[in-house]
Amino acid sequence: MNQKRPGFGTRIGFELAAAGSAVGLGNLWGFPYKTSANGGAAYLFVYLACILLVGAVAMLAEFTIGRRSQANTVSAYKAVSPRLGWLGLLVVVIPAMIMCYYLVLGGYTVKYALGSFVGNAGNYGPFAGNIGDVILHTVVFALPAAAIVIAGVRNGIEKAAKLLLPTMLMILIVISCVSLLLGEGVKEGLAFYLQPDFSKLSGAGILSAMGQAFFSLSLGCGAMITYGSYSGKTVDLAHSTVVVCLLDGLLTFLSGLAIFPALFHYAAVSGESLSALGMGGAGLMFITLPMVFAGLGTVGQIISLLFFTMTAIAALTSIISILEVVTQFIIQRHKVARTRAVSIVVLVCLALSVPVGISLGLDVNGGSSALKLFGRNLLELLDGVTNTLLMPLGALGACLAVGWKLPKSERFSGFVGVMLRIVTPALIVVIFLFGAADMVFPAADGVRAFSGDGFGILLTAAGIVVLTILAYFLWLKNRDTGSNRDEAAANRARDEAFRAGLRRGWQRPE
Ligand code: PFF
Repeated sequence: MNQKRPGFGTRIGFELAAAGSAVGLGNLWGFPYKTSANGGAAYLFVYLACILLVGAVAMLAEFTIGRRSQANTVSAYKAVSPRLGWLGLLVVVIPAMIMCYYLVLGGYTVKYALGSFVGNAGNYGPFAGNIGDVILHTVVFALPAAAIVIAGVRNGIEKAAKLLLPTMLMILIVISCVSLLLGEGVKEGLAFYLQPDFSKLSGAGILSAMGQAFFSLSLGCGAMITYGSYSGKTVDLAHSTVVVCLLDGLLTFLSGLAIFPALFHYAAVSGESLSALGMGGAGLMFITLPMVFAGLGTVGQIISLLFFTMTAIAALTSIISILEVVTQFIIQRHKVARTRAVSIVVLVCLALSVPVGISLGLDVNGGSSALKLFGRNLLELLDGVTNTLLMPLGALGACLAVGWKLPKSERFSGFVGVMLRIVTPALIVVIFLFGAADMVFPAADGVRAFSGDGFGILLTAAGIVVLTILAYFLWLKNRDTGSNRDEAAANRARDEAFRAGLRRGWQRPE
């Protein structure tokens, strides 16, 4: 790759960074508990199919939008069509929202990783309720993320990805091997995870797998557009897409292989039932696994340390991509230095993450409902608005823009073209509609009824889209929103000014 161009220095660096964005809490926390709630292996197969068929297509679309513009998401969408700039702003707003809760969860992983060092990963309820401790760990998680993004795309994000992704893969392979060697219960765990029983998979399960695939691949929120904009002109994006999807699929698969045999082994030796262990719930990672690890003695302590360290690393390589989307836009739109842009974004999002942490803590401990909105704690609310509603919209916009709005000479033809123009958008619309319907008309005891809270979340998402469009037309439409070249030029100017300052210093010695 051209060394003078701002961005990733190598193709593998680009692919590892994108895979680092993809592999995160979605794979290690979300996937295992959703798999166990949806009947095991069948969910895994649908999920992997979604990644390869639907997710890969949307990822290729996002890489393409970024690469052809070599600019932040707003300029990138403007370059596709001047009327689409607002979509570019929407995918800056979405990661800013995700950051406010992902930082909190990242703080939890840091706490559990550090706790594993001293033999007790963590106690969910008491930790969640101790807001000072939660804020402290959230800050400890945010600092390395900020430092990596401040160091820049090549010297920070790329170097971190090259070091951290292989590290995660190795740790996961080691844990999977240990888990498979535990003996009693392992066979049942493997059967649950790998022998599909499609009768156990409902329509809602299929949709959940598709939504999970989108979140896991970081689609619909600008990350892949931003990373695509830093990829080299000669990189084969289709090849990179396949590599990133395969890596994400592989790490997801391994996380199940690490968790289910250990879980079933613990159930077999302790005599506790799997449902009593909370297998199908969101507490699988922060409540059940620490218990399982503790039950395995010294080996468990080592696995616990490895597992939560790896989870913290996975969350870190994801949050840096979320942070970079917003940072890139601010640097290029407002022509400010990277350090200043990152500091502003991190400080604002950290401040906003405090009420999210408090709200989660209150909810977990069954306390006051003061910090709930529409019946959800703020973490669930942000997750519902972004993951279920806004990210599918973002991904839909990317597919339609590349499928229909690019100049004819740049459009994809053949199988990929059809997928981009028709099949993937149709599937995303289905995910979106069912996700929204499930929110507004949730099923309780088999009966569906209107939920004012669900409707409130839908309205919130709609309000965010409307405000974003308004903001775009009022403040951005006719303004220069910059490109990657601006940062390189600003860096050169700063270096030049620094050197000129030094020269002046030499000319006038004291
Ligand atoms: N893909 C990440 C995960 O699976 O945890 C989450 C994520 C990262 C979402 C980056 C959005 C994003 F821009």
